[in-house]
Amino acid sequence: MKIGIIGTGNIGSTEGRLWDKAGHQILYGSRHPASLLDRDMGENVQIGSIKEAATFGEVILLAIPWDGIDEVLSEINPFISEKIVIDATNQYGFNEDTGKNGLIQLPNHQTATSYNTQRIKSKGLVKAYNTLTAGFQWQVGSDSPKKGVIMPYSGNTEEAKTIVADLIKESGFVPYDVGDSEMARFIEPPRGSTSLYGEEWSIDTIEKRLKELKDTINL
Ligand SMILES: NC(=O)c1ccc[n+]([C@@H]2O[C@H](COP(=O)([O-])OP(=O)(O)OC[C@H]3O[C@@H](n4cnc5c(N)ncnc54)[C@H](OP(=O)(O)O)[C@@H]3O)[C@@H](O)[C@H]2O)c1
Repeated sequence: MKIGIIGTGNIGSTEGRLWDKAGHQILYGSRHPASLLDRDMGENVQIGSIKEAATFGEVILLAIPWDGIDEVLSEINPFISEKIVIDATNQYGFNEDTGKNGLIQLPNHQTATSYNTQRIKSKGLVKAYNTLTAGFQWQVGSDSPKKGVIMPYSGNTEEAKTIVADLIKESGFVPYDVGDSEMARFIEPPRGSTSLYGEEWSIDTIEKRLKELKDTINL
């Protein structure tokens, strides 16, 4: 599958190398493509502009800081209406209320996934690869003997979720569908008693924990 990766840092380069190893075609889109030439981004990958990654991929991975999303969307939205977007971002950025960097509170208590589903003009957005550190993801997906680690995902489009679940498997994880973009609140920050975010789960532990979380809000 052709995958365009926007954001070439910790997460972008981790998923890019894992999918490259699995035989997918990767084109990284960067604001500074030349600066990537001497970095290990995978064996058979291409490097280009953000627009090139958006037009190349059947699937686009968005792996940039929250505060950069609107600017990137102004460039890529015209090209992604028929594409699936994997959103690995988390809503940490400049908080206008506190004047500091931190967790962003979105209007009407909506999830970051619902917020991004509205502004990212894709065929289907799936939140995934956002709950575990890039370093840990590389360990699990590359050479670790660790098996059975859950990668939770969520979104509103079944066709997109099916495709992303396969990509999750191929990167070394067990895909687990948490639900729609509202249910994505359980895989978004902050870490703690109201979320699955930031923890390692197996199939047994995630099912028990998700049921407890849903019970607390009477779902
Ligand atoms: N690090 C983790 O363990 C982790 C885990 C889960 C989720 N996340 C989330 O994944 C996203 C990326 O995190 P990261 O750790 O990979 O970040 P990072 O290492 O800082 O890399 C982000 C990349 O995005 C691009 N970028 C930076 N600012 C940008 C802007 N204003 N507009 C467009 N592109 C910009 C840069 O690539 P170019 O310079 O090549 O354009 C940069 O290398 C964040 O939303 C983060 O919350 C991170």
